[in-house]
Amino acid sequence: MHSKSTITDQRNRDYSALEVFAISIRYVKDKIIERVKDQETVTEKDVYFVLTCPAIWSEHAKQFMRNAAFKAGIPHDHLRIGLEPECAAIYLHNVTLPELSTSNRKSFGMQDGDGYLIVDMGGGTVDIAAHKINRRGAFEEIMVPNGGPWGALNINLKFEQALVALSGGGTFETFRRECSQDYLELMRSFEYKKIAFPGESSSSKVVLTIPTTYRECHLAENHVDLTQSLKEVHHAVMDSVQFNPKNNKISLTKSGFENLYKDTLESIVSNVKTILSELVDKKRFQIKTIFCVGGFADCQMLRDRFKTEFEGRVVFPKEAITAVMKGAIIFGRDERIVETRISKFTYGLDWSLEFDPKKHLKWKLERTDSGPVCRDCFLPIAQKDQSIRSDMPTKVIDSYVKTVDQKEMEFPFYRTSSGEPPKYIDEPGCLYMGSMCVALDDISGGLDRSVKLEIYFGATEMRAVATDNKNRVHSVAFNLSETQV
Ligand SMILES: Nc1ncnc2c1ncn2[C@@H]1O[C@H](COP(=O)(O)OP(=O)(O)OP(=O)(O)O)[C@@H](O)[C@H]1O
Ligand SMILES: [Mg+2]
Repeated sequence: MHSKSTITDQRNRDYSALEVFAISIRYVKDKIIERVKDQETVTEKDVYFVLTCPAIWSEHAKQFMRNAAFKAGIPHDHLRIGLEPECAAIYLHNVTLPELSTSNRKSFGMQDGDGYLIVDMGGGTVDIAAHKINRRGAFEEIMVPNGGPWGALNINLKFEQALVALSGGGTFETFRRECSQDYLELMRSFEYKKIAFPGESSSSKVVLTIPTTYRECHLAENHVDLTQSLKEVHHAVMDSVQFNPKNNKISLTKSGFENLYKDTLESIVSNVKTILSELVDKKRFQIKTIFCVGGFADCQMLRDRFKTEFEGRVVFPKEAITAVMKGAIIFGRDERIVETRISKFTYGLDWSLEFDPKKHLKWKLERTDSGPVCRDCFLPIAQKDQSIRSDMPTKVIDSYVKTVDQKEMEFPFYRTSSGEPPKYIDEPGCLYMGSMCVALDDISGGLDRSVKLEIYFGATEMRAVATDNKNRVHSVAFNLSETQV
């Protein structure tokens, strides 16, 4: 996702993604402000916003959301980005756990040093974070957040794929495009059935009405009726379907419907298992509790599977679907609650060091007014898997202007997935991330101007503060490269 990304609508028209997001945020913002204004003592300026996103999102995606919020009328200094599993964890620790019964508190209560996984399962993404509680009662991240596209919408997608297996991609596309109301109605009723599944009765079948238009599309494309095709198709889900041509109802057996959940649940469970064993193997960390939040955590099939796989360690709080939002409010008031985070990459600045013929490559030598330097050096900011404080600078550097009338200082920075920092920024695996730019409007002082750059990489967003040698604070813009994902 970047500033020029587009979103295609049902009729294949492209829209600016930034614009679509901005309109959505503005809608919510306006509703909030409308409500807040009813209370005479509160004005728009008093309102601060927390926008949440999955912890696995890239810096670029988070910046995209910040830009969309800005376009929607939320000033930068009134916005904080919250990471969803963190917000959910904060809510659970502040509200859910203190309310547990004494017996439950024994199993799930958190003491100093205890660690837990928080698995936020939504429509699109499953986002997994691991934290421990430290002596001050604050949170420390113990692994880089992990996750993937294994959300509940995959189950709807499996149903669509089953229809494609039955009728062919052409039929399905025509139906979706030309009978969009019926398509939405079919998928809406599927969504209701999915949420209610498996229901009370153990032998229950799932019944859905197939729109007449679907049947017509099927006949036009395949030249046989749906009834005939159902007899002929061999497909794990469709094999369980019975069709009543009189009322256009299909009924799926319980095991046929269960099939739609299989791959998605498998992906989630196997990834959680891998994380648990990696935490034991690499960090000697035994996770005490797995908290499941997000709408998908309400799914009975998922709950049963988790309870079997991770017996005694799983908690499905009552507020699963609202925990993120409520926790975001607590986080918005005090972001220091998450004290340390784990660095996702090894980050470094493009830097010039005093040239040392014993250490540096000859062809990196550059002669400058202040003597020979080695260019393209990778000056580490943070190392991958290193635990970094969220409230302290990760790195502090001093830099002098190079010309008398310089009005801007640029600090290009790079990242690599390797744990060891490379020596030079052009080594394999080292990617340009963007640059931090400091505006220096006042050129009085000429060459005697410098800035102290404090780089914070432990917060939910990358940020930096620049202070010049006259003690003036300057804003630092992060211009992230558009090629980053
Ligand atoms: N009982 C249920 N069974 C299966 N899925 C469910 C159930 N209840 C809710 N869901 C799914 O949960 C999803 C909504 O959850 P949530 O609000 O946490 O998602 P989201 O935060 O919007 O998505 P994401 O986190 O991926 O951005 C929907 O896709 C819905 O189908
Ligand atoms: Mg979510």
